[in-house]
Amino acid sequence: MIIEEGRLIRERHGAQEMENYVAKLVSYEALDHMVALIQRVYDALPNKEVLFVDSYEDMKQDLDEGAKVIGIYGEDNQMIAYRYVSFPGIQERNLGRDVGLPEKDLEKVCQLETTVVDPPYRGNNLQYMTLSLMKPIVASEGYEHMACTISPYNYFSVNNIMRHGLKIKDLKRKYGTLPDNSDGIWRYILHGRIDREEVFTVDKMVNIPMMMIQKQKELLEAGFIGHKLHRDQSLDYVQYSSL
Ligand SMILES: CC(C)(COP(=O)(O)OP(=O)(O)OC[C@H]1O[C@@H](n2cnc3c(N)ncnc32)[C@H](O)[C@@H]1OP(=O)(O)O)[C@@H](O)C(=O)NCCC(=O)NCCS
Repeated sequence: MIIEEGRLIRERHGAQEMENYVAKLVSYEALDHMVALIQRVYDALPNKEVLFVDSYEDMKQDLDEGAKVIGIYGEDNQMIAYRYVSFPGIQERNLGRDVGLPEKDLEKVCQLETTVVDPPYRGNNLQYMTLSLMKPIVASEGYEHMACTISPYNYFSVNNIMRHGLKIKDLKRKYGTLPDNSDGIWRYILHGRIDREEVFTVDKMVNIPMMMIQKQKELLEAGFIGHKLHRDQSLDYVQYSSL
């Protein structure tokens, strides 16, 4: 089902060209293209820790449980980008648990899984735009919360997600194989409302470099929330506020 059409910029051999795209709600038929695209994106990443590569089986299982995918396709019907969201319900993996949502709200959580954009098409705001397209679709089905994990080394992704009103509410190791996750990778847990931006009365504010994991953990444990990002010439910072 086509939900939007438009034009974007593609970078080829250092030159920029315009290309038509369509945004479509897709499903199982897109799985092979998603697997190929995420692998290509992963192979090109300088820091592999920022992207957890979902397998065909993981994504198929999510689709079996109702996950939704928006695919962006170019003029040759090639997949340029996708955003996929899942609905974990009361399962253990529901990130609503990490941010302290009451049990009754877990069924209303839409989990933002992976988004990838093919490198020649970066800079078209596709990560932000695909979430703008997804929000009304899931809101119309009664979902009220959005939650996701993002690496603290992924400035672009954290920034795009925070522009949708999600805030950093926890920082922990995830996706490990040991029961205590001590072999996992660092991830912010971000959460926000789908229908509105949460309003907080801010007390103290402090800027912490994204790479300073321990300090951020201490602040989050003390009740601070990560509100926005900023970067100067040398470092990326999160602005934390106490409430
Ligand atoms: C994160 C990601 C989806 C953002 O893609 P996007 O929507 O095209 O990004 P934006 O349009 O917001 O880009 C804004 C600017 O940042 C730049 N940028 C975006 N991602 C970048 C990256 N990974 N590395 C370097 N620069 C990047 C863009 O070129 C653009 O620069 P410009 O303003 O000079 O044109 C994309 O970088 C990506 O696929 N990364 C790998 C997978 C990933 O980390 N996914 C998110 C976690 S699931």
